[in-house]
Amino acid sequence: MAEKAKIAILISGRGSNMAAMVYAAKSSDCPYDIVLVASNDPDAPGLKLAEAEGIATFAHPHKGLTRETHDGIMHDAIVASGAEYVALAGYMRILSDGFVRKWTDHMINIHPSLLPKYKGLDTYQRAIDAGDSVAGCSVHLVTAELDDGPVLAQTEVAILPDDDADSLASRILIAEHQLYPATLAKYVTREADPDWILTQIRERALALEETHERTSFGAPGWRVGSKTTGKYFAYFAQSHHGEASIALLVKTAGLDKQSALIDADPELYYAPKFYGKSGWIAIRLDTGRTDWDHIASRLYSSWCQVAPKRLTRMIAIADQF
Ligand code: GRF
Repeated sequence: MAEKAKIAILISGRGSNMAAMVYAAKSSDCPYDIVLVASNDPDAPGLKLAEAEGIATFAHPHKGLTRETHDGIMHDAIVASGAEYVALAGYMRILSDGFVRKWTDHMINIHPSLLPKYKGLDTYQRAIDAGDSVAGCSVHLVTAELDDGPVLAQTEVAILPDDDADSLASRILIAEHQLYPATLAKYVTREADPDWILTQIRERALALEETHERTSFGAPGWRVGSKTTGKYFAYFAQSHHGEASIALLVKTAGLDKQSALIDADPELYYAPKFYGKSGWIAIRLDTGRTDWDHIASRLYSSWCQVAPKRLTRMIAIADQF
C-alpha cells in the first residue's frame, strides 16, 4: 500500500466525527493516519479523547487575536505535524481567506444538510420547517465562501413525522460518522482512481480549441478539428498492451523530442508500442506525483502538432503580443 496520507483534524467541541475518523484510521487498510487534533478551545472534550488514543493535540484560544493571527498559529501547528490535509469536524470558526487559500483542495468539512440547502446553522429545524421529507449530511471541499465548496459526497436521512431538531440531528450524526471517514479515504486516494484521472485529462483536453472526445478501440481519445476530419492529439490508455497501467499518449514534435523526454525522465515517459516511429509518447499517470500543469502543456504541444493550420496560425499571431 502507498504511504498513508497525513491528516490534521480541527474541532471545537465534542469531536464525535473526529473519533469516527480516528477509529477508521486504526484499520490497516485505511489510507490515512491522523497526525494531529487541534482546537481553538483548550477545553474541547474531543481533545481528551484524542490524547487517550495517543494522537498529538494542539490548542490555542482565539480570544483577543485577529482571525488572521489565530489562523496563522493553527496553520503553523498543522504544518509542524506534517499533515497534508485538514479535516474540519465541528470547528466553529470562520476561516480567513489566507488560511483557506493555503489549504486549497486539501481541506474538507462535514455539514449537517444536503448542500446547497441550508448552509450555516440550525439546519435541522430549517429542514423540518420547510416540510422536507429528507435531510442529510454533506462532505465538501472548503472554499472561501461558507459551506459552499464542491460537494464530494452526501447521505440522505429520512425525516420522521414526529422528528424534532434533536432527534433528527442524532440520526444525521450516525450518517455523518459513516460518511466522513469513507469520503476522506476516497478523496486522499483519488490520484490512483482511474475515473478521477480520466476526468482530469478530459477537462484539460477539451479546454483546448475545437476539440471533441471520441473513443478509439475502446480508449477515450481527443481530436482537434471538425467531427468529420478531426485528428487525434491524445489517448487515455488503461492497461494497454501490458504496459504501465494508466498513461496519456500524446504526440511530440518528433523522434528526437520523444527520445530526449524519455532520457530525461525514464520513470515518467516511455515509447508506446504499436505507434512506430511517429513521435507519440506515453506519460505515466499512475506515479502518484502527476504534475497536472505539465500534462496540460504536453496536451497543448500535441494539439499544436495536429491542429489545422488556421488554428495554429492564429495562436502564432497571438503569441507575438
Ligand atoms: C456535526 O453536526 C457536523 O456536521 C457539524 O458540527 C457537528 C460536529 O459534531 N459540522 P462533532 O463535534 O463531530 O460531534
